[in-house]
Amino acid sequence: MIFYFTATGNCLAIARELDSELYSIPQELKKKAPLHYKADTIGIVAPTYSGLMPRIVRRFLAKARFDTPYFYIVMTYGMNPSVAEKEAVAYGEHVGVRVDYAATVQMVDNFIFAFDMNDQMAIDKQIPRQVAELKQNIANRVKGFREPSEQQMTGFAMVSERNCRWPEMTDGTQITVTDKCVGCGICSKVCPLGRFYVGDDKKAHRYSEYCEFCLACAHACPKKAITLSVQDKNPDARFRNPEVSLAEIIKSNQF
Ligand SMILES: Cc1cc2nc3c(=O)[nH]c(=O)nc-3n(C[C@H](O)[C@H](O)[C@H](O)COP(=O)(O)O)c2cc1C
Ligand code: SF4
Ligand code: SF4
Repeated sequence: MIFYFTATGNCLAIARELDSELYSIPQELKKKAPLHYKADTIGIVAPTYSGLMPRIVRRFLAKARFDTPYFYIVMTYGMNPSVAEKEAVAYGEHVGVRVDYAATVQMVDNFIFAFDMNDQMAIDKQIPRQVAELKQNIANRVKGFREPSEQQMTGFAMVSERNCRWPEMTDGTQITVTDKCVGCGICSKVCPLGRFYVGDDKKAHRYSEYCEFCLACAHACPKKAITLSVQDKNPDARFRNPEVSLAEIIKSNQF
């Protein structure tokens, strides 16, 4: 049993490699019934955002109860896993979830603020090798997690301080719709918080500026009409994992 969150498909692609019983975290969070799960193995697959699990994943972990002899968290990341595993285990402890194993998988970095997607897609990150290792570790019920380096700890502290000082770095308020928008409504379907709507002017608008900052909207827009006001490395380059369809992202995230 795996619970996943994905904006551009990396985590769904990895979740599918690891198990056949998959549940989308945004869809599980909609359920009114208590979120109690029991299985022989339970995993979470989620992206790394500034070294941490996305807020929506943390909300799910805080709300859900898991009855399993083996609980693991896999976080996909792009260029620097930072303190991902350590912080995931610590957050689990904080909300009463025992994490037996935490690991990371390097994939395309979808953070358009910092990276050009064309450059990212050109890098061979040896995903099959990483997945094979991960599968073996989970099959063998390996326990533990990688300790971050000193440099990663310092980098994480600096990024956290920056994010506190400039909330627009992580709160979604820099997401901007340009006049390339044709009102197709895809952004409203991939947003896990249902932040977008298409107005009478046939343009996309946001109900509230504050959000997860997952970038599903920007990557899925067929007109590349969603950009970041502070910095967008290449507004003409967007990404979706080649193993995952737009329909699957919509099904996973539709509010
Ligand atoms: C807001 C944001 C912050 C990110 N922070 C990190 C990070 O700290 N380290 C990193 O290596 N990748 C980072 N990434 C990249 C994603 O973790 C990575 O591309 C992930 O595989 C995306 O998964 P998905 O396709 O399932 O959404 C970030 C992406 C976003 C959107
Ligand atoms: S996906 Fe893009 S083009 Fe379609 S409504 Fe949203 S912003 Fe406009
Ligand atoms: S508005 Fe865009 S970045 Fe914000 S939660 Fe929705 S899809 Fe993610």
